[in-house]
Amino acid sequence: MSRASVQSSAPGKVILFGEHAVVYGQPAIAVPVSEVEARATIEPAPPSSGLSLVAADLGQRFTLSEAPPQDPLAVAARLTLSRLAAPVPDAKIIVRSSIPIASGLGSGAAVSTAIVRALAEFLGRPLPPADVSELVFEVEKIHHGTPSGIDNTVIAYEQPIYFVRTATSGPQLISVGAPFTLVIADTGLPSPTRRLVSQVRAEWQRDRARYETLFERIGDFAREGRRKIQTGDVEALGPLMDDNHALLIQLGVSSPALNELVDAARDAGALGAKLSGAGQGGNMLALVGAERAEDVTGALRQAGATHVIRTTVE
Ligand code: PMV
Repeated sequence: MSRASVQSSAPGKVILFGEHAVVYGQPAIAVPVSEVEARATIEPAPPSSGLSLVAADLGQRFTLSEAPPQDPLAVAARLTLSRLAAPVPDAKIIVRSSIPIASGLGSGAAVSTAIVRALAEFLGRPLPPADVSELVFEVEKIHHGTPSGIDNTVIAYEQPIYFVRTATSGPQLISVGAPFTLVIADTGLPSPTRRLVSQVRAEWQRDRARYETLFERIGDFAREGRRKIQTGDVEALGPLMDDNHALLIQLGVSSPALNELVDAARDAGALGAKLSGAGQGGNMLALVGAERAEDVTGALRQAGATHVIRTTVE
């Protein structure tokens, strides 16, 4: 059967509240970041050529039949075919992404989401967000070991979410009472999620009482943050972000580079700032009023940010 080319994309994401504690059952809030994206294009290929994958940004090019069993891109394609009980089509998948890798912006989940969506659509059987999220979660396990599931969920649904790992119902989408602006800045250093999640786990095993108290308090920021987002009390989110950052320092996942960017944003008039994602490197985010967005962006660049994104949550 001849098929037309299709293209699908998926946004990046940032975690506003609750990273790490979310792995232990606390709630977290994440929002999509559409200023960066992963894109998968699928073109029909000659009969009997099989399915090939080209990801120039990641330096990868292979056919599905030759791909290493644990290659995340290939796993995303295989899981989609298996979910749809579809034979391997003769096609080429071209993957591109403007999302920095290992920076807490959900690059891995976005690339997988774009592949799953594009392949399902190419086969004429688009999948709903819940199914996309579930398949991408399986791929995330390769990247992260024990992911909470927040990245695949916010990226597949493309809406602000309040996420609880242990919830049996679907994700809770948050309605935003008043739009707010975030400035997201990259330290340029890698944020090794798998290693940081293991580091926190080891510390938790050494001192469960202390860590569970920290997780509970971090969860309170997500609970309170959701209420403030819904009622449009934007200014109140700033101090919650500052306090969440202080507890992430106590968890041992911040770094001098992240703290410098957080301080620079606050000094330039941000309403609040914190690291976002697994920590150590990667990105931080600052909540800004419209009149301070330029100043905060400039201050973050001045303080050494390698990449700055401005996004509005609405
Ligand atoms: O992938 P990252 O860097 O956004 O980190 C995910 C957030 C963690 O809570 C640290 C891990 C997880 O699986 O939720």
